[in-house]
Amino acid sequence: MYLGIDLGTSSVKALLMNAEQAIVDSASAPVALSRPHHGWSEQDPADWIAATESALAELKRDHAEAMAAVRGIGLSGHMHGATLLGAGDEVLRPCIMWNDVRSHAEAAALDADPRFRAITGNIVFPGFTAPKLAWVKNNEPEIFDKVRKVLLPKDYLRLWLTGEHISEMSDSAGTSWLDTGARAWSSELLAATDLSEDNMPSLVEGCEPGGRLRADIASRFGMRAGITVAGGAGDNAAAAIGMGTVRNGQAFVSLGTSGVLFAANNAYLPNAESAVHAFCHALPNTWHQMGVILAATDSLNWYAKIAGSDPATLTKALGDNPGAPSGVIFLPYLGGERTPHNDASARGAFVGMGHESGRDALTQSVLEGVCFAFRDCLEALREAGTTLERATAVGGGSRSAYWLKLMATVLGIPVEVPAEGDFGAAFGAARLGFMAAEGADPATVCTPPGIEAVYEPNSELEPAFDTAYRRYRALYPAIKGVMT
Ligand code: XUL
Repeated sequence: MYLGIDLGTSSVKALLMNAEQAIVDSASAPVALSRPHHGWSEQDPADWIAATESALAELKRDHAEAMAAVRGIGLSGHMHGATLLGAGDEVLRPCIMWNDVRSHAEAAALDADPRFRAITGNIVFPGFTAPKLAWVKNNEPEIFDKVRKVLLPKDYLRLWLTGEHISEMSDSAGTSWLDTGARAWSSELLAATDLSEDNMPSLVEGCEPGGRLRADIASRFGMRAGITVAGGAGDNAAAAIGMGTVRNGQAFVSLGTSGVLFAANNAYLPNAESAVHAFCHALPNTWHQMGVILAATDSLNWYAKIAGSDPATLTKALGDNPGAPSGVIFLPYLGGERTPHNDASARGAFVGMGHESGRDALTQSVLEGVCFAFRDCLEALREAGTTLERATAVGGGSRSAYWLKLMATVLGIPVEVPAEGDFGAAFGAARLGFMAAEGADPATVCTPPGIEAVYEPNSELEPAFDTAYRRYRALYPAIKGVMT
């Protein structure tokens, strides 16, 4: 039996998986997020532990035998958060989260230092960890002076579980302090933010052991003391482990609130210029790229609210098969954009409406705009040397056959729909726990799910959508200066 624990932005999920990789059960508990000022987003690490305790207590109550049989634990969590600890491992302030943008000035200043992009392979985004420490130094110097360790959120859970300061490559690649190609902390970059390797946890690979379960916690939740806790992974890499997206050219497209085009790579292939995230994967000698768009299903939710409807009704009205492009171009930059523009102040637009453009045409243009944003991600990954032959669709938006058919035509690759299953990060974390505890071969553990449907690009529509994509591509530079 193996346990995966995923620290999500709104809840902690603990999942039990057996040796055949079947899910036995899972339990979740909510975690509050506080936004005390505009652009701030914080969580109290004590709440992560309370939520984990409650999820584990539920599993113990319902599956005492399975909990006693757990041999390995894997951790995953939201990335980039700064959890600051003092000399006695006490938490010095609330964790500054991945979606907190208060450190935008510090991020721009670090990004202007060419060493950051050269060594990490990534833009220094305001959500990443290093600029947060620069902000704390500038604004809360008394706290900065007390910082002894900086931990990523899931690694704080590990500290509670094992008593050790350990991290792994995939999450650490999102700090702006990791030499992503060498899979090691960069003392040069740490020094640029007045820190050193002493302030960082030690590093293991995600599928390797990264600590052992403390006896007191083991006995509280009916587990065995000393079982292996795996390195684990950041949430996207953990989801990829769960989806079996681990070999070169394998990819998934996640149509969630935000959107992610995730590709596994057997080499380190950065393209910071187009705002591609190039991170280590959770397996040795494996990396991954991500194009991230900030409003995927969120764009449709936004439009549905304005149209006085709901996303399901709006997409149903379009039928199951896309026809010619709507003619209206929608830019989905409702809250800024990461890939390819790295522009927090970008905003959305509808362009090209006529008297004939009704509700359905605008729904269609919203779905098209999100697909074009993913095409931008695909092009950015392509520029960085990645050729995708197909992608598996996950996330709430993947329930719309229309949207996935459109996606296949716009991306020019088949889009696959997995058979029912749990593709969350907790499942991937459980797989990492399995590999770390048993030394199991990643190739046999990280298998892809069964495929229920494959949507091929529609070759008759492709030329028209290529033309529409070119219009989409030309729009942002044309109106950037008047967007806000
Ligand atoms: C990745 C990112 C998010 C967070 C929260 O760069 O910012 O996916 O990990 O889920």
